[in-house]
Amino acid sequence: MTVHQIPNTLQLESFWMPFTANRQFKAAPRMFASAQGMYYTTEDGRKVIDGSAGLWCTNAGHGRREIASAVEKQLTTLDFAPAFQMGHPLAFEFANRLAEIAPAGLDRIFFTNSGSESGDTALKIALAYHRANGQASRTRLIGRERGYHGVGFGGTSVGGMVNNRRAFTSAQLPGTDHIRHTHDLARNAFSKDLPEHGAELADDIERLVALHGADTIAAVIVEPVPGSTGVLPPPKGYLQRLRELCTKHGILLIFDEVITGFGRLGTPFAANYFGVTPDLMTTAKGITNGTVPCGAVFASRTIYDGLMTGPESQIELFHGYTYSAHPVACAAGIATLDIYKNEGLLTRGASLSDYWRDALHALKDLPNVIDIRNCGLMGAVELAPRKDAPAARGYDVMVDCFNRGLYLRQSGDAFAMSPPLIVEKNQIDEIVSILSDAIKRVA
Ligand SMILES: Cc1ncc(COP(=O)(O)O)c(C=O)c1O
Repeated sequence: MTVHQIPNTLQLESFWMPFTANRQFKAAPRMFASAQGMYYTTEDGRKVIDGSAGLWCTNAGHGRREIASAVEKQLTTLDFAPAFQMGHPLAFEFANRLAEIAPAGLDRIFFTNSGSESGDTALKIALAYHRANGQASRTRLIGRERGYHGVGFGGTSVGGMVNNRRAFTSAQLPGTDHIRHTHDLARNAFSKDLPEHGAELADDIERLVALHGADTIAAVIVEPVPGSTGVLPPPKGYLQRLRELCTKHGILLIFDEVITGFGRLGTPFAANYFGVTPDLMTTAKGITNGTVPCGAVFASRTIYDGLMTGPESQIELFHGYTYSAHPVACAAGIATLDIYKNEGLLTRGASLSDYWRDALHALKDLPNVIDIRNCGLMGAVELAPRKDAPAARGYDVMVDCFNRGLYLRQSGDAFAMSPPLIVEKNQIDEIVSILSDAIKRVA
C-alpha cells in the first residue's frame, strides 16, 4: 500500500528503461516533473529531496539558471561544430579550465559524452600509449571486483559487478583480469571514513604480475571510492600502495572519478583527497552538473607527449566521438565550473563531511542495518538481505522513502547517497530522518 498514487495518464510501454525492472516500474511508476535546488517535484506535486544528486551528477543542485542561459546562448550561436580536424574556441577554453583544477600534471583533456565512453577511452589510450612507446606486449587490462566503469565492452570487461557481466560473458575483452575488492564487513563494518583494514589487498597486483608477467599488463582501473556497488571507501593506505606497485611494474593507473570528481569528497578530485595521482583519470556526470551529456579523460603529459610522435600530418590517436567537445556541452561545462568556483563547491563538502558522517552513523542500531559507510559527501547504509530475496528489502525501503519525500539510489540492499554539494545541515537531517523512518517501517 503506497501513500500516494499518481494517476497514470501516460503510455509507458515504448520507453525501454535502463537499469530498471521495467514491468515493476510501469505497474507503479515514480515520476519526477521538475527540480529546483535540493528538491525534485513529482508529477502529483510532492517535494522529494534529492539524496543522490540525481545519479551522482547534479553537484550544484538543480535548475541552475547560469547553465541554462549558457546553453541557450550557445544553441543560438554555434549549435554544433565538428571536433575532427576543426575546432571551436569553447572546446579549448573548457579544456584549459579543466586543466586548471586537475590534479598535478593531468592536464591533457580528451572529451567524451559519458562515463562509459570515458572508461573505454582511457583504456584505449593506455593501450595506444604502450604501443607507441615500444611496449606493445602490454595489452592486459586489469579491473577490480565490484568495480563499475560503465557499460561499454571495455568498461563491462574490467567491471566487477556480476549482474552487469553475466549476459555478456562471451563478449568480454580477452586479456582482462581483476584484483580483489576491498569490502570486508567482518573487519571493517561501521567504519567511520576510511576503514583500518585491507591496505594489503593492493598487493593483489603482485599476484597478477606473477601470473601474467608485468610486461603484458597495460593498466589497472579502479574507482578511488567505488560508488555503484554501494560506496566502499578504500582502506587506509590502499590507494597509495596501488600507486607504488603500478609504478614499480610500469603499469598505468587509471582512476575512474566519474562519481568522485568535482567535489564529491570535499576536494576537486579523489586524487587530491588521497594524495595519489593516477596516470589517467576518467570523469563525466558533475562535469556539466548533469545537464548536458559530457565526459572527459584527463591524461598526464607523459602519456600525451608519448603519443605525439610520428609525422606531424598523421593522426596520433584514432579515436573520438561525433559529440566530443560538443559546443553545448562545453558551454554547460564552463558555466558549471564557474558555479563551482564562485560558490566554493569543489571544497564545500570538507566542511560538511563530519556532520554527514555522524548523521548517517546515527542509524547504526536500526533493524537489519549491517553496515554504514561514508567518505566526503558519499555514504551508504546497508541492510541485511531478506532470505532468498536479495535487494527486496532495499527496494521496499527505497519506495517508502520516495513516497515520504526522499529520493536515494538503491544498490541491492544498500542505499548509495551523495547529496548535491549545496546541501545544508537541516537537509542532511531531513534525508536521514526519512530514511530512518523508512527502515523502521519496512525493513
Ligand atoms: C564510476 C563510474 N564509472 C562510469 C560510469 C558510467 O557513466 P555513464 O552512465 O555516464 O556512462 C558510472 C556511472 O554511474 C560510474 O559510477
